[in-house]
Amino acid sequence: MEFKMHNQIDKYLITCAFPYSNGSIHLGHLLEQIQADILVRYLRMKSHIVFFICSDDTHGTAVMLKSQKLKISSKFLIEKTLKKHKKIFKKFSIFHDNYSSTNSKFNKKFCEKIYKQLKKKKLLFKKKIFQWYDIELKIFLSDRFVKGTCPRCQSFDQFGDHCEKCGAFYYSGDLLNVRSVLSNTIPILKSSTHIFFNIKYFKNFLKKWIKKKVFQNSVLNKTKEWLFSGLKAWNISRDFPYFGFLIPGFSKKYFYVWFDAIIGYLSNFEELCFKNSEIIFSEFWNLHSKIILYQFIGKDIINFHTLFWPSILEAISYRKPTKIFAHGHITFQGRKLSKSRGIVLTAKKWLKFFDSDSLRYYYATKINNSIEDIEINLENFIYKINSDLVNRIVNLAARNASFLKKNFLNILSKKFIKLDIYLIFINSIPIIQNFYFKQKFCLVTQKIMELADLANQYISNEKPWKLSNSKKDLKKMHLIVSMGINLFRILITFLKPITPVLAKNAEKFLKIKLTFQNCKVPLLNHKIKNFFNLHNRLDLKILNSFFKNI
Ligand code: 2FM
Ligand code: ZN
Repeated sequence: MEFKMHNQIDKYLITCAFPYSNGSIHLGHLLEQIQADILVRYLRMKSHIVFFICSDDTHGTAVMLKSQKLKISSKFLIEKTLKKHKKIFKKFSIFHDNYSSTNSKFNKKFCEKIYKQLKKKKLLFKKKIFQWYDIELKIFLSDRFVKGTCPRCQSFDQFGDHCEKCGAFYYSGDLLNVRSVLSNTIPILKSSTHIFFNIKYFKNFLKKWIKKKVFQNSVLNKTKEWLFSGLKAWNISRDFPYFGFLIPGFSKKYFYVWFDAIIGYLSNFEELCFKNSEIIFSEFWNLHSKIILYQFIGKDIINFHTLFWPSILEAISYRKPTKIFAHGHITFQGRKLSKSRGIVLTAKKWLKFFDSDSLRYYYATKINNSIEDIEINLENFIYKINSDLVNRIVNLAARNASFLKKNFLNILSKKFIKLDIYLIFINSIPIIQNFYFKQKFCLVTQKIMELADLANQYISNEKPWKLSNSKKDLKKMHLIVSMGINLFRILITFLKPITPVLAKNAEKFLKIKLTFQNCKVPLLNHKIKNFFNLHNRLDLKILNSFFKNI
C-alpha cells in the first residue's frame, strides 16, 4: 500500500463499517472505530478537513427476529439501539460528524433512486431461485441462518454462504446436511423469483480499479481470487417477512440488507450535507472528486467493499474509495470473540472495569495497518498501561511538578537549557507524523516510549532532588525540572490522537493547547497548575471480578 505525504491541506471523508442493530457495541467494533478515530484526530491536528461518518445497520432478518423475541416493533428496537450505540461511542471519545441509521428517509430515497438507475441501465435481472425455507417459522433462511457441511472441504458446522475452514464461497443450496439455525429443523428448498445485480458487467472495470493501490496486499490477493474465479450476480432482494425497505413495484419484496447498507455510506453523507449546508455532496462523490475517501472495514466483509460497492458506484458514475483499510479480528486471552461461540466483550462491560483511553492506547500499541488478528491479554494490558502511560509518561510530569510547586510557585524557568535532548524530541515530529499517516500506530507508541525513557533518564541523571543546597543549585534545579515538564508536554502532544482524555487532562495541567506546531517552541516563564492525577493506575486485582463476569 502506497501513501503520499505532502504538506497541503486536504479534505477527507472517513467511514467505518456499520454496526448491526441487533447487538451491542463490542471490542471488535471498537478496534475499527478507534483505529479510524485516531487517524481522524491526527489528520485534524494537521489541519486537514475531515468528516467521519457511520450508521447503524438496521435491516434484515436478525433484527426482525430479535424484535419478535422481545415483543417490540423492529422500529422501536433499532431506535433504542441507535441511542445506546451513539452513547457508548462517545464514552470512548469517538465522535462521528454524523451517526445515522440505514432506516432513514435519506437512505430509503437513495436506495430507490439507485435501484431505478440500475434498472434503467439494464444492470438488474430477475431469476427464479431455490432457497432454504424454514417450514416451522415460515421464513426463507438467509445464509447465516443455515448451517451444514462445506461442499468443498467437507467441514461440519459451516454457514450457508462460505466456509470458515477453507474460505470457499458457495451457493447455500449446495451446502450438505443442512439445518435451520433458528428452529433446528431441516429446511426445504423453496423457489422464489429474485432481483439480481449483474456484477459481471463490471469485471473489466474492477480489474483496472484494483490496480490503483486501494487495498493492503492481502486484501488485494483475496479480491483477485474472487474476481478471477468468476463473479456471481448479486441477489439484492429478500422475501416477506423481512425488516427493510420495500422494493418499488413490489408488495412483498425488500431490498437485501447489504444493498441498503452500502448505499448508507452515500445517504449518511447526504444527511450530513442536509444538516450543514456548507458541505457539498457532489464535491465528495462526483466521479472526479479529489477528496480522499478512506473506508475502514473488518476482514470478513472485504468482498462487499472491494467488489459490490465499487461496482454500484461505477454503475451510477460516482467516485470510488481512495483506500479501503481492512483489519483483523480480536482474540481475547487466546480465544476468538464471537456471538456464536459465546464470548462477547461489550464496550459497556469494559467500562465497568477499565477506562476508555487505556483501551485506545492498548489497541494503538498493536495497530499496524494489517489484517492480522489482534490479541487482548488482560495481564499484558494492565502491565502495559501501568508501565507506559503511568510510570513513563504521567510520572514524568508528577516528579517534576512536585519540585516546581515546592520551589518555584509552579512557574517554569525563564530560560531554557539548550540541550540535545529537546532537539531529539523536536526532530522526532516528522517520524511520529509519518507513522500516524501510515496508521503504524504501534510504531508511534514505540517511539513515544523510547523518548519517554530518554526524558526519565535525563531527570535521573541530573538528580534535581539533590540540588537544594544553594541558590545556584536551585537555579539549576529549576532549569532541569522545567525541561522535564517541557519534554512531558511534547510526549503528550504525540499521544494526543490516541489518548484524548489524558491529553485533555494534560492541557488543563499545563494550561495550554497541545499542537504539533506549538510544541516546537518551549514553554518558558509559564505558570502551570498543581499536578493532579492524569491517568489512573490499573490494579491486577480487578481481573478476578472481570473474569467472573464474563
Ligand atoms: O458486517 C457488518 O457488521 C455490517 N453491518 C457492516 C455493514 S458496512 C456498510 F456496508 F454498511
Ligand atoms: Zn470448506
